[in-house]
Parts: sequence; structure tokens; C-alpha cells
Amino acid sequence: MEMTDKKNLRSQAWFARQDKMGFYYRSWLKNRGFPHDQFDGRPVIGICNTWSELTPCNSHFKTIAEHVRWGVLDAGGFPLEFPVMSLGETMLRPTAMLYRNLASMDVEESIRANPLDGVVLLMGCDKTTPALLMGAASVDLPTIGVSGGPMLRGFYKGKHIGSGTNTISMSEQLRSGQITLADFYEAEASMHRSQGHCMTMGTASTMACMVEALGVGMPGNAAIPAVDARRNLLAREAGRRIVEMVKQDIVLSQIMTREAFENAIRVNGGIGGSTNAVVHLIAMARRIGVELSLDDWDRLGREVPCLVDLMPSGRFLMEDFFEAGGLPVVIRELAEKGFINKDAMTVNGHTIWENNQDVTCWNSEVIHPFDAPVKPNGGIAVLRGNLAPNGAIVKPSAASPHLMRHTGRAVVFESIEDLHARINDDTLDIDETCVMVLKNCGPKGYPGMAEVGNMPLPPKILKRGITDMIRISDARMSGTAYGTVVLHAAPEAAAGGPLALVENGDRITLDVDARSLHLHVDEAEFDRRKAAWQPPAGHGNRGYVKLYVDHVLQADEGADFDFLVGGSGAAVPRDNH
Ligand code: FES
Ligand code: MG
Repeated sequence: MEMTDKKNLRSQAWFARQDKMGFYYRSWLKNRGFPHDQFDGRPVIGICNTWSELTPCNSHFKTIAEHVRWGVLDAGGFPLEFPVMSLGETMLRPTAMLYRNLASMDVEESIRANPLDGVVLLMGCDKTTPALLMGAASVDLPTIGVSGGPMLRGFYKGKHIGSGTNTISMSEQLRSGQITLADFYEAEASMHRSQGHCMTMGTASTMACMVEALGVGMPGNAAIPAVDARRNLLAREAGRRIVEMVKQDIVLSQIMTREAFENAIRVNGGIGGSTNAVVHLIAMARRIGVELSLDDWDRLGREVPCLVDLMPSGRFLMEDFFEAGGLPVVIRELAEKGFINKDAMTVNGHTIWENNQDVTCWNSEVIHPFDAPVKPNGGIAVLRGNLAPNGAIVKPSAASPHLMRHTGRAVVFESIEDLHARINDDTLDIDETCVMVLKNCGPKGYPGMAEVGNMPLPPKILKRGITDMIRISDARMSGTAYGTVVLHAAPEAAAGGPLALVENGDRITLDVDARSLHLHVDEAEFDRRKAAWQPPAGHGNRGYVKLYVDHVLQADEGADFDFLVGGSGAAVPRDNH
């Protein structure tokens, strides 16, 4: 074995030993038949897998991992796959977001504690992407993200239907008697008809786009359908490339730079991406030492038009996006207008401009040119005011133009249970000019900041054909949802934020152009209510939930744990025996 000249790889602190510890580190791995030459100093690549049957969106990840493995072997590396906590958006209660930080800790510690020189992160369902990138960022090894890809188009009664988006619209139709329960069941089987993640421009697709825009993924990462052979090809290329990256010592912090985050925010505008990207990118940036704030989101996204006509706010689905050329077309369009830091380096060794400058748009209905956008403003608007001193957000491209500047009477729900108990009651004193306010659904309040901010409208209003009202909360909403929904109000109600002080009948003004959210209550009254405020009952006083509630930061700081901000690097820990 030739080992002495390869001491710089951290895996050699395990495998190059000629003593008892070397025996430990090599011998147990040899139980699967790895030959001795695997330990000779070649890059050891971790394949970080979020496969789980409880995360249907990631159910094909064993296959993707195999293709990464072949790529690593092609390039002379030593691949070792390992599982981390998987987060399935549709199953996990009270919300997958409660566990994002937990999974990130699993990822971080699994990478650092093991003999790894580089990692490939397999990510799909919403929270798996930020969880893995946050964890990997706090270690900062050479890292490539491989997204699992979207499902094929949903197809039902001759029409394409989209994940989440049509779930929401069909459940409203069921509640108002426009479709039957049998229709509903049939649609369930028709909507999700292949492996992959949600195929609308929801959070999973948005985060896959963020991976590509940040340069952490290979070009084309965002849109190739999960079941398309080219997804496997991309995984194989990533496996080959990560070995090179280890040899070149290109670590994640050289990719996830301030410039890369700026590109990602701009791309989020260009795709009309999910509001959830705001908390996730801020959390990721803070892990890797990049300053990123809500104001960056507002400022950088402000002039970016939405080019992509995808659900939830548009017509098409991710498969259409892929066929039209995918994210490279959006990046090229934005870059040509000066909205992309062209020199940002990406994991394939080329700049983002080099990767995308020559791509062609094959369908300008799906991806519009910059000068004829789908909507003039695809970015996220950050609102401030006495109702959200540390910010709240709204996605103008998903909102109704007539509500963007509106004053209305508050109808307050103290909790999600209160909302469910009263929303279907025809005697509820509410009309479409009212502003629905939902409290105690933020990070500490839910706990986990669930996707409940897009409150269902009262049936008596829906029956009149009205589909949108202003809704304000400290919650998030699904990336597949839509409407004039003000989210992430900070500080949250359960932390004593001003949202907690709103009462039925108060008047609230939303003015998106002015970026303001104002509660019309005079200061004396405001102070009186503040003095009388009692925190809501907690959610248990032990275990992970206690850790979460005690340490979670507010939405404007990415809802990470206070003690997880930053990183601890990739230093090799002590021997274990
Ligand atoms: Fe997994 Fe939507 S539920 S991506
Ligand atoms: Mg969701």
C-alpha cells in the first residue's frame, strides 16, 4: 500500500494506520468484500441518502445512489453510502419543518465523524434539501448536491394536474360540493403517478432550482424528471466529479458564496419560487458564514420578472419546464440582463455563465423571454410595520392584484384548531373584505412553523366564486399554494410578537408596494394589550420538542437553532478506542 503521500485526505487518518486502530477502521469495512486497495488513499466519498418509504418523494433514491456509486468508482474513488433522517413533507406531523434542524444535525455529525473526504447529498422532498445543505455547510468538505427530480405530470380526466396546487383547489371544490368523494379518490391516484417529488414549482422544485443556481448541483439538476434516464446520468456525473473535487480540494464554502446566494435569490424570482426558500437560504447562508437577510431577498428580487409559467401561479408543470430547457434557460435569460454574478464557480469546475450561456429555450410558453415575462415581479416582497417589526413576506406573483393594497377588518383565529372549528360555520362574521389573522403557528408556536398560512376560505365566500382573501400569520405556506398570503410574521405570536395582540374588529392595512403591514391600534391600546398578554400553553417539556422550542430562531433568521449557526469544520475527531 502506498499511503504516505496521501496523508492530506482526512480518510487517511482512519485508513492509513498500521496499528490496532487501522485494523478497526479497515477490517470491519472489509466484511463486505472491499479489497485492501480501497484503503490506499483514494478519495472516500459519502453518499448521503434520504431514501425512505415514509418519504415517497425520495423512494427512488437507492437507484440514484447506485448511479452516484458507479460514478465514484469510474473516477477511482471509494463510495460509501449512509442514511440520514429523511423528512417526508406529507407524512410528518405536526410538520416536517419541525425536524429540518434535527436532520441537519444528523447530516453534519455523520459527515464529520466518519472517514469521508467528500459527500454527495441526495435530496428531494422539501426539507431534505435545506437539511442536508445546512449540515454539510457546517462541515465544509467538497460537496455536490443531487436532487431526485420531479414526478411526471399529474394526469386526470384529460387534464394535467399538479401536486398540492390541485389538491388545494380540489379540496375546496369538495367542500363546496362541486366534485364528489369518488372524484377525489380517483384524483389522488392520478396526481402522483411516478416516483419523484412534487412537480409543481413548489418548495421541492424550488429548492432543486436553488441547488442548481447556487452552483452546488450539476447543470440541469433542477428539472430532469425523477424517472428520466438523464437523472441517473446526472447522478453518475456527480459521482465522477466529486472525486475530482476532492483532489482539487474545492470545498462547499468556495461554492456557496455571497455571489452564489445572490444568484439563487434572483433565480427564485425568475421561477416565481416558493416562499419557503427564504427561511431555508437564510439558514444555509448563516451556516457557511455568508451574511444574508430578508432585506437581501426584497432588494435582489425586486426587479426580477417571473419567466416561468408553472403552477401554483401558472399553467405548466416541471416536466414541461424540463422539455423547455429547464433552469439553464432561466439562468441565461437573467444573466444576459445582468441579474446573475456570472463568475460564480459551480461544482462542475465551470462558472455559472460558462455552464448556461449557450442553452436554448424550446418552448417560450413555458419559459418566457426576459422582455415578455409571465409576471413583472417574481420576487418575494418583505413587509414591515407594527404588525411585523422584524419582517413578514408575501409572494406578489401568487397574490391577487386587487388585494395588494387593502385595508380590512381583522377576523382572528387564536390557533389552527380555532380556525378549523369555526371556518365552516356560516354564522362566522366575515366577508371577502376582511383580513384573516392566524396566531401561534410560528416556529415556537406550532411548533415548527407549519404550512398552514394559506388558510382555507369560509365556504359561504367560496360558494360565491371568491377564491382569495388577505391572510396573515406567523406560519409558512406550501410552495404549491397561492393567494394573498402574508407569512413568516416575526417575531411570532407565541414569542410575544405583535401578531399576538390583534383582536377581532381591528383594522389592518396591507400595502405591498409600500412594503408595509400596519395594525390600526393606537400606542396606548397596544401597550395595554401587551401588558395583558399571556403566552399560549407549551408543547411538552422534554425531548426534541423542548430543545426545538428553547433554541429555534425566528423566521427572519432562518428558523435554525441558535447553537447551530456557523460551523465546526471537518477536523478529524479523536480515535474511538
Ligand atoms: Fe415531497 Fe412535495 S411532498 S416534494
Ligand atoms: Mg409542504
